[in-house]
Amino acid sequence: MNILILGAGGREHALAWAVLQNPKCDRLVVAPGNAGIDAIAECAALDIEDPEAVVGFAVEESIDFVIIGPEAPLAAGVSDALTAAGILVFGPSAEAARLEASKGFTKEICDACGAPTAAWARFRDAQAARAYVAAHGAPIVVKADGLAAGKGVVVAETVQQAHAAIDDILGGAFGAAGAEVVIEDFMTGQEASFFVLSDGQTVLPIGTAQDHKRIGEGDTGPNTGGMGAYSPAPILSDTVAELALERIVKPTVAEMARRGIPYRGVLYAGLMIENGQPRLVEYNARFGDPETQVLMMRLGGQALDLMLACAEGRLAEMQVIWANDHAMTVVMAARGYPGAYAKGSVIAGLDQLAEDSHHMVFHAGTRAEGGTIRADGGRVLNVTARGATLAEARARAYGMVEGIDWPDGVYRRDIGWRAL
Ligand code: GLY
Repeated sequence: MNILILGAGGREHALAWAVLQNPKCDRLVVAPGNAGIDAIAECAALDIEDPEAVVGFAVEESIDFVIIGPEAPLAAGVSDALTAAGILVFGPSAEAARLEASKGFTKEICDACGAPTAAWARFRDAQAARAYVAAHGAPIVVKADGLAAGKGVVVAETVQQAHAAIDDILGGAFGAAGAEVVIEDFMTGQEASFFVLSDGQTVLPIGTAQDHKRIGEGDTGPNTGGMGAYSPAPILSDTVAELALERIVKPTVAEMARRGIPYRGVLYAGLMIENGQPRLVEYNARFGDPETQVLMMRLGGQALDLMLACAEGRLAEMQVIWANDHAMTVVMAARGYPGAYAKGSVIAGLDQLAEDSHHMVFHAGTRAEGGTIRADGGRVLNVTARGATLAEARARAYGMVEGIDWPDGVYRRDIGWRAL
């Protein structure tokens, strides 16, 4: 089978690595890919947010199955266009992907199916939004309704901060994504991620993870795309996961089907857990990054069978085969990230690291120049390891980090501290 993966990050490198372990994969193309992906698969230049271009490429290259990594191609209708062209695709339709692309839509669905989440309201008018905040007080959460590359959420500590966020969002800071603002009660507890596959009817859990969003150790400083992750997430015990499945995820999938918008793909539920009770923070219509790196390390080649069954509506016949293991990924980022950072510094030592089913360096923002790997983004490497315990996975991951010679790279030394 010829497979195309869309995307260029650590998530897509991890997906490619897992897919290649499955003998069903005869040929793997990743568009656009990165230096790490280029070492294991074909990379192709392609505008992955252009549905026509993706369909044209898939037809020309006799692609049998397309796996969509990031959210932007989903929102742009790439999955719909591939389905219309008769090409099997893993990734929801644009309408179903509104579970990520519209915060207000998700809240409506939660209300309709009774899924526990924070109390909320939506506004297009700044005056009305400000009055709501003044009446509710702080802390309070202010979100741009649409996709804002992870930057459209403000946890306001004061009413003034909330008012400023409302003015920013409705004032155009996020363009069309900020035409509407969603305001939610602040939730306390511990956050964790719950990943399921849905073929529109059947829901199959495929793992849990926790990531570290802040740049600084002790979970301090500005938010990032994620500085590390581990799986499983101890806070998401079997009991809590079952509650999340029965009270949040299954009702959501059923409500989507009832509305004639079947959800087909991975559904990533960001949960807040307090006193053993999960509530929904948000949905993503794609795999998490860097959570995918630890999930793929644990799932290996069966990930392709699961994604195929999901796309073909056969999830009811599938089950996940778990090793009783743990995985951790440590993100190495360019100094300065998530603020301004330089590109182009040389990363040495990667070719000395043994990579196998327990040790992998997944590339995010890298490029190859001759035989040299250079940093080419904010989050650059995902140093990932598996072990019988989380402590073993951690020791292996940090052991690999020590073997990487990149003076311009920074990383957190406390990934997994809550769980350990
Ligand atoms: N790690 C957070 C995300 O993928 O959205």
